Amino acid sequence: MPGPTTITGDLRYEVVRQIYEGGMGIVYEAQQIGTRGFVKRVAIKVIRERYAAQPEFIENFIGEAKLVADLIHTNIVQTYHLGDIGGGCFICMELIRGVNLEQFAQRLAEGGRKLPVELAVFIVSRIARGLSYAHAKTDCDGHLLGIVHRDISPKNIMIAFEGDVKVTDFGIAKAKGLLKDKEGEEVAGKPEYMSPEQADFMVTDKRSDIFSAGIVLAQLLTGENVFKGASPEESRQRVICHPVPDFTRINPEIEPKLGQILQRSLSRDLAGRYQSADELLYELEHFIYHRGYGPTNETLGKFIRELFKEEAAAPAASASSRGQTTRMASHAPEPAPPAASKRGAGLFDRLKAKIS
Ligand SMILES: Nc1ncnc2c1ncn2[C@@H]1O[C@H](COP(=O)(O)OP(=O)(O)OP(=O)(O)O)[C@@H](O)[C@H]1O
Ligand SMILES: [Mg+2]
Repeated sequence: MPGPTTITGDLRYEVVRQIYEGGMGIVYEAQQIGTRGFVKRVAIKVIRERYAAQPEFIENFIGEAKLVADLIHTNIVQTYHLGDIGGGCFICMELIRGVNLEQFAQRLAEGGRKLPVELAVFIVSRIARGLSYAHAKTDCDGHLLGIVHRDISPKNIMIAFEGDVKVTDFGIAKAKGLLKDKEGEEVAGKPEYMSPEQADFMVTDKRSDIFSAGIVLAQLLTGENVFKGASPEESRQRVICHPVPDFTRINPEIEPKLGQILQRSLSRDLAGRYQSADELLYELEHFIYHRGYGPTNETLGKFIRELFKEEAAAPAASASSRGQTTRMASHAPEPAPPAASKRGAGLFDRLKAKIS
């Protein structure tokens, strides 16, 4: 007898705590409740109510979900589901127990600690690995989707306490037919992490993400982003024309070979830049492994667990303890506990009631 062709189930989520409150969206930790006591921890991203009313935002949010639905790779945060909450939408995804790269760098700076060069290279090699997979993604007919992330920056990179590095937030990515592409008219993304062509309103391709990954690597190695200006516009200008420094002079621990990798990633001339994330990945891996043993998820995991001792050891929050934002939930700007959050209150209450 043939099996069923459609399986209809019941999906319910209970919000545990708010992880992040951004300008446009809110990310929650939640429990996906299944039948007979099945419970799975997930992350849920919702659009703020005031943006949910704008068709263009909703369209992009849905586009993001559809785009990432089939991106299944260890270095990309996996998406499970796109759902509806009374007019708005939410994305349910793999929960990463860890921190984003901005929080990671901040904690290092607070403690006056340096990230070992090889761990910085390892982190960016994993970003390159995720990008390489996304860039090569094809549709079911085998046509290249032409995915460009366009927002590779520390807040969109997560490091799990186990040491896995994951690219997230394909919210402004472009891919043929999936997301509204306004290149040539508008610039989206964080100016200080953009490629020069992106900052200059030009059409981008996968090499744009390589430039952004180069900025992230340089920042991890030197502790600063040389393109960051006093305003977004100044950052945009700096990305376009500020001379790329010799990073080996800023940090003498950067060996000449690594200095060359940085220069090639940050080449404004597209022909002089790595042509694919694969090429960058090879060079970075060769750099850390050519002597034999090099960093692994385990080494990075050990480092991050030591840096975030309390958070990494904390037991998972329970649904009944929601509202007590743990330290992990503190971001800049400090978000209020969800129940007390004025701006997020409506959404949170509805989420709490039911996400279906
Ligand atoms: N799957 C996840 N698991 C755990 N934390 C997550 C997850 N996804 C996102 N976060 C946290 O939420 C933050 C914001 O996520 P994301 O970038 O997807 O949202 P956003 O609304 O697009 O934010 P922004 O506009 O500021 O980039 C991340 O930097 C990370 O700290
Ligand atoms: Mg983001």
